Amino acid sequence: MAGPEIHILHRIGTLHTFAGGPRRRGKLLDTAPISPAAIAWDETGRIIAVDTQQEIEKEFRYSDAVWHDAGGRMVTPGLIDSHTHCVHAGSRASEFFMRCQGADYMRILEAGGGILNSADRTREASPGRLMEVGRNALDLSLSFGITTVEIKSGYGLETEAELKILRAIRSLDRTHPVRIAATFCGAHAIPREFRDTPDKYVDVVINEMIPAVAAEKLADYCDVFIEDGVFSVDQARAILEAGMRHGMKPKVHCDEIKALGGTEMCVELGALSVDHLIAATDKGIKTLAGSDTVGCLLPGTSFFLKKPYAPCRKMIDAGCLLALATDNNPGSSRTENIQWVLTAACLYYGLQAEEAFSMVTINAAAALGLQDRIGSIEKGKMADLLVWDAPELAEIPYHHAVNHTAEVLVNGQRSAGF
Ligand code: NIG
Ligand code: FE
Repeated sequence: MAGPEIHILHRIGTLHTFAGGPRRRGKLLDTAPISPAAIAWDETGRIIAVDTQQEIEKEFRYSDAVWHDAGGRMVTPGLIDSHTHCVHAGSRASEFFMRCQGADYMRILEAGGGILNSADRTREASPGRLMEVGRNALDLSLSFGITTVEIKSGYGLETEAELKILRAIRSLDRTHPVRIAATFCGAHAIPREFRDTPDKYVDVVINEMIPAVAAEKLADYCDVFIEDGVFSVDQARAILEAGMRHGMKPKVHCDEIKALGGTEMCVELGALSVDHLIAATDKGIKTLAGSDTVGCLLPGTSFFLKKPYAPCRKMIDAGCLLALATDNNPGSSRTENIQWVLTAACLYYGLQAEEAFSMVTINAAAALGLQDRIGSIEKGKMADLLVWDAPELAEIPYHHAVNHTAEVLVNGQRSAGF
């Protein structure tokens, strides 16, 4: 017998839908709550109705739908982690303790450690090992209520190793319930072999790596780390334009330590997101505010690197479209706990819980160009749903560094429960 076609999550105490598209300024506070509520979806995982408990009961009373009981709990869209580097090998715990004693993150990279340290370990690693590390990270992400994870390559820094990472990311996408967005980030650091000839490495990225990645359709996005001693704005532009010619949408790391004009260049290219922005300038903020490029802020990285925090409130007031992400990576932010990132954002950016949640749901979807499919609970979108063991949104950043997740559904399938 064919399985039931309609599923309904009902008896939701409060449903925060985050409907109405990506949001700026005061709209960040609008969670579009319904109480009590219910959600119906079809066998493909697509939402077919979102309404009050009463209306859904009326509409589906005579259908043979399967009813799932939320027990009066709060429900939000699954969270979206739009910036991670969670597929890599090796530990950088020793660098963490060097930094605890005062060593500087960029000095460690200049001395051949940091990203280059992870690249050494990742080049040696088998595809199976990379899958194992990635799977463990995704299991944790899912447990914290993350239903979509963006993952960047960038610890290969040579063509075969970059392909190895991206193939592992694609295999994880096929085998793990979490939805994955794959980003080619071959321009993550200048490898030691090209230390004195960085333009030659840029040539390799443009003429060798990007065509090879595109030939296997391994990435949807292309990312570059724009920073003094890493890639310049001009080098980044050339790489991002090459990526665009091969169908990869631009996303970048910029204005993390020094503002070099990366935000302005990326807005001009129509990048999906510019990430970090600790050192954002007034000019950069104004340019960003006048665009649909999302500023993706990473407060966990500021915390972990003991750096200043991005001028988030100034950006909100200017009208920028903003997201938050973990930056989950072995060096500058070693965590999958996006719930704790909300705490850091509320504390150090001065956000309300609703604002922070808008930035890990619908606005994070926009940072991936996926705002029409995910990021809010609306008819036509995928049923990526998060049932919370918390009475209200405020409880999650407030009671920090613990996990408030009760149940997670990706595409309408129960993927984790606790
Ligand atoms: O987003 N800033 C550059 N890239 C990563 C860090 C990667 C690493 O240290 O391994 C970031 O912080
Ligand atoms: Fe990053």
